[in-house]
Amino acid sequence: MAQVIYSQDSDDVISPDIDTEIFAKDVMAGLSAKQKYIPASYHYDAEGSRLFNKITELPEYYLTRCEADALKRNKDRIADLLTDGTANLIELGPADGSKTGALMDYFHELKLDFHYVAVDISHTALEQLANHYQSVFPDQSVDCLVANYVTDLKWLKKRYHQKNLVLFLGSSIGNFNAAQTKAFLQNLRQNLKSGDMVMIGFDLAKEPELIRQAYNDSENVTAEFNYNVLRRINRELDADFDVTGFRFEGIYDTDDNVMRSYLISLKEQEVYVGALERSFGFLIGESIHTEDSRKYRESDIEELAVNNGFAVDCHLYDSRRYFVDSIWEVF
Ligand SMILES: C[S@@+](CC[C@H](N)C(=O)[O-])C[C@H]1O[C@@H](n2cnc3c(N)ncnc32)[C@H](O)[C@@H]1O
Repeated sequence: MAQVIYSQDSDDVISPDIDTEIFAKDVMAGLSAKQKYIPASYHYDAEGSRLFNKITELPEYYLTRCEADALKRNKDRIADLLTDGTANLIELGPADGSKTGALMDYFHELKLDFHYVAVDISHTALEQLANHYQSVFPDQSVDCLVANYVTDLKWLKKRYHQKNLVLFLGSSIGNFNAAQTKAFLQNLRQNLKSGDMVMIGFDLAKEPELIRQAYNDSENVTAEFNYNVLRRINRELDADFDVTGFRFEGIYDTDDNVMRSYLISLKEQEVYVGALERSFGFLIGESIHTEDSRKYRESDIEELAVNNGFAVDCHLYDSRRYFVDSIWEVF
């Protein structure tokens, strides 16, 4: 019963895959800025999605294991939300959906009846997820929507009228800056109704060295994940990045509790982007900012909820209290 829905199936749903023109416009803005940047959502083409799944298995990358532990320890509390009249379990950015898959096993044991909706910008990730759910949970009703959850959430209001529980796991919220977080939460709130619930994963602030290691892994998978975005620009926007001319580094900002990822130019160089018909110059040591991963205190999380139209219901922790899934009610 799993199906992937594209814009041509329903005019209220989103554009399929990345639009090359928008990609080119974003790269133009990012590489022309004083601090060069590439928006983090462009990491997730087929290869980026594969590399991200590899990152989640790295010994240093505690986030996925801690969140899986938090969900396992608290599965009854989460199941309670689905017995409370919730019709739709909606997951934003599931990637391979492994953490939700474990919950889904449990919900099936309990014979809970709900509709599952996976929303991701990566067509490949969703197709694999749809195939997986088809084989593992053949009787589960599933929609897979190819959508950008930053710019397109109106399908929530238009398609899913019954009570919703929205999952936003993996501390993906930490990839937004403060203004983007506020815009995202307010947009989410506007497309939900009073009584709907959300569960958001937050990586908690902790010993900086643990965080540094998680994003600077010894196998360089995180570095490859970042180089991949340059390869993607070469392929899709006809650019000539020399990937070996950059090194990757994740730098932890202890004042703001943010891990900032950079690709740093190893030489003075010019990169031509065919789709933009222009070149961008790099000095030795000049960087491209590729991602932020914010870390939170409980007080930050509570502030985010109340300032954006939600009431905190509870915090679900892993055994080490490295990570929290925070459940909020829409009011
Ligand atoms: C960091 S991964 C997190 C995956 C998973 N939620 C987890 O907990 O491990 C981010 C996922 O969100 C998707 N994604 C990133 N930006 C997106 C956006 N703007 N709209 C929709 N999906 C997005 C990616 O394709 C990827 O599957």
